[in-house]
Amino acid sequence: MQRKTIETNLSIYKFDELEESKQELIHKAKEQVNKAYAPYSGFFVGAAVELENGEIFAGSNQENSAYPSGLCAERIAMFYANAQYPDVAVKSIAIAAFTNGNYLQEPITPCGSCRQVLLESEMRFEKDITILLYGTKYVFVLENVKQLLPLCFEKNNLQG
Ligand code: THU
Repeated sequence: MQRKTIETNLSIYKFDELEESKQELIHKAKEQVNKAYAPYSGFFVGAAVELENGEIFAGSNQENSAYPSGLCAERIAMFYANAQYPDVAVKSIAIAAFTNGNYLQEPITPCGSCRQVLLESEMRFEKDITILLYGTKYVFVLENVKQLLPLCFEKNNLQG
């Protein structure tokens, strides 16, 4: 038997320490929580995706009385961006969440399905996506999706 340890890396910033372009993308994600439709969870999420051409697309979570029919903010923003510009790589994504009258103190981290969708985009364009996970106390910054999803399933695995 062997054991293997897989490490991942992230940087932790105070919001004010971030460069302006990153702060702006986070602002867009924060604004977007106001457009979430989350009557069932009361958990309002906003995501803002910046493409390599400078275009920004934002999305919010959209829930449904048939719960699994709803979708997370991250996937809505990613699919929206990729549907408008299928040939342009994603540069970065910012994510923020609001519940019980406040933005989360700890950074929100995307669910497994959203991580897989982010990974597909990173692989498709062979371009690292910077991930900004907002919390009021601090912001997690990850250099690419692989940091968020180690030991991932990707297209090479389909070859067997
Ligand atoms: N949600 C997101 O939109 N993004 C996440 O990263 C985590 C969860 C949504 C799904 C659902 O509408 C609500 O938050 C509670 O899970």
